[in-house]
Amino acid sequence: MTTKLDRGTILVLAEELDPTADLVVHELNSRQAPVMRFDLSTFPQHLTLRARLEERWCGVIEGACRAADLEQVRAVYYRRPEPPAIADHVDEPYRSWARGEAVAGLLGVLYALPAVWVNRPDVDMKAAEKPCQLPIAAAYGLRIPRTLITNDPRHAREFARDIGGQVVCKSLHGGQLQHDNGARNGVPTQLIDPVEIDDSVRLTAHLFQEWIQKDHEVRLTVVGERMFAGTIHARSRQAHVDWRTDYDALEYGTTGVPDEVRLGVLAWMKHFGLNFGAFDFAVTRKGEWVMFECNPSGQWIWMQQRTGLPIAAAIADLLVGAQL
Ligand SMILES: Nc1ncnc2c1ncn2[C@@H]1O[C@H](COP(=O)(O)OP(=O)(O)OP(=O)(O)O)[C@@H](O)[C@H]1O
Ligand SMILES: [Mg+2]
Repeated sequence: MTTKLDRGTILVLAEELDPTADLVVHELNSRQAPVMRFDLSTFPQHLTLRARLEERWCGVIEGACRAADLEQVRAVYYRRPEPPAIADHVDEPYRSWARGEAVAGLLGVLYALPAVWVNRPDVDMKAAEKPCQLPIAAAYGLRIPRTLITNDPRHAREFARDIGGQVVCKSLHGGQLQHDNGARNGVPTQLIDPVEIDDSVRLTAHLFQEWIQKDHEVRLTVVGERMFAGTIHARSRQAHVDWRTDYDALEYGTTGVPDEVRLGVLAWMKHFGLNFGAFDFAVTRKGEWVMFECNPSGQWIWMQQRTGLPIAAAIADLLVGAQL
């Protein structure tokens, strides 16, 4: 196959049907940037990697319609691709091992390139841990809720007593409950009465926090050094506790970012080495911002649609601005 290899290619790793990646690719196309989009699941069966180590990795990644010169990759947009798919006739345990090899080979070579990432998945994973996030946020001057992680019910009751006000219990890793009938749902934040804290706390690690008396919330999407703050006002009791539980009761808007929050957030992003982050903040009646968490691969398309904040354009600008 003879394929023209572009200078400064931007790789987009995403599922084939992904409206979020579509938006970014559309913005890249409108900037005439060379793009090669593929899902990791096409490797190794439909995508070929030829990487030879000279002084740096040289060679190509070649798909059905496009190819990229490894030395010409300037940026990678990593947007929740599926894992590599190994041929059906390979049985376990070789199948899982081969999948691990595929990840280590393809992503490993891409990691070694001097390219800008939004975001590297290994960096993303480290930054996603709430117990790692919160102390760094506090160290950079961001206010966070008083927090306890425990499987000891007595300790949890003591914490609630020390807080003196209401407490919430919420998920540590944001995972989903997978039911037998195939249905899936997230685990919402619960406002709890301290007398309800019982021995079920023993069943696993629990995250307790002081309840922040919030006027509204902000989803702050950060792209490089640019910030897009979408406000979320909850119009139902349920949404006031956790806005994700009642999307119909939400009103959206936009706001500026206080200077001290901007500085803290930028330092936080730098600490973790992220180029993209979707932060959840509460804003109190006095206007104080309290950080709950950062989702390094958080969803943003709905916020762009609701508010018009140009997040896809900012991601494209960042990818295109990367120097070879
Ligand atoms: N301490 C708190 N006080 C008041 N409300 C809170 C508190 N912690 C969380 N919430 C509410 O619960 C929501 C979810 O909490 P958080 O974002 O910390 O966790 P998550 O389950 O990891 O969320 P995500 O789905 O964004 O990954 C917040 O956006 C907010 O509405
Ligand atoms: Mg959240």
